[in-house]
Amino acid sequence: MKPVAVIAGANSAIATAMIPALAEKYRVVAVTRPDRKLGVSAGDQVDGHLSCDYSEPALEELAESIRSEWEEIHLLVCAVGTLHGANLTPEKRLAELDRDQLDQYFQVNAITPALILKHLLPLVPRGEPAKAAFLSAKIGGIGDNRLGGWYGYRASKAALNMLLKTASVELSRSHRKLSLVALHPGTTDSPLSEPFTSNVPDDNLYSPETTADRLVSVISGLTPEDTGRFIHWDGSDLPW
Ligand SMILES: NC(=O)c1ccc[n+]([C@@H]2O[C@H](COP(=O)([O-])OP(=O)(O)OC[C@H]3O[C@@H](n4cnc5c(N)ncnc54)[C@H](OP(=O)(O)O)[C@@H]3O)[C@@H](O)[C@H]2O)c1
Repeated sequence: MKPVAVIAGANSAIATAMIPALAEKYRVVAVTRPDRKLGVSAGDQVDGHLSCDYSEPALEELAESIRSEWEEIHLLVCAVGTLHGANLTPEKRLAELDRDQLDQYFQVNAITPALILKHLLPLVPRGEPAKAAFLSAKIGGIGDNRLGGWYGYRASKAALNMLLKTASVELSRSHRKLSLVALHPGTTDSPLSEPFTSNVPDDNLYSPETTADRLVSVISGLTPEDTGRFIHWDGSDLPW
């Protein structure tokens, strides 16, 4: 029987495009927020679709549902992330910082992914090879920040990176065969990037399918020695 992959934020453009390739090797369990329908092609290829509002009680229930039907997780992918929304606009200047906005960025981009890892980790076998890949962003690299702007998005992805790095240190002792990594997908045509892509040259704006192929290829090649890395879609290391 194929191992199980859980993909959170499964309705994201990138995650949806990853599902067909993941389904070749895994039984895929898609997790979305409540009331989200999966796209037809992704929906046909998943083994199960669960919803979660990512509160801690809901994450406990999610873990229990996965445990009772699929037992173990060999691959966890998290694509949850936000950049803009009804009350959310990336800040260009310090004067635009707003407590509620910053709270949203940190909740969605850093805290939710970390809690997904916390609650689903008990389903990851300790003694077998397993992988956990979280979609971060190059723009969250502190050492790479030359342009400024987008305070909340950058800072929340930097926080995600630190949470993942810290977990990777701890888990390298308890889960020696786990590779836990942060992945940069590249600028990809999606609802998240759509308002900001007019100045991105066409050859630097990738389709979700191209990005998905690249990310699945990086994930396929992961070994436990890769744990704690921040990885570009081409497989190279990114500065934290
Ligand atoms: N597109 C890019 O250029 C780019 C570049 C660098 C990094 N990334 C990262 O790649 C990941 C996927 O992005 P994408 O481009 O595929 O974007 P997307 O299509 O907008 O998907 C983002 C997904 O995150 C989940 N999400 C959004 N708001 C949420 C909230 N308030 N609470 C919980 N979940 C929420 C949703 O999943 P459900 O609908 O399934 O619940 C949504 O589909 C994100 O982490 C993003 O930061 C993207």
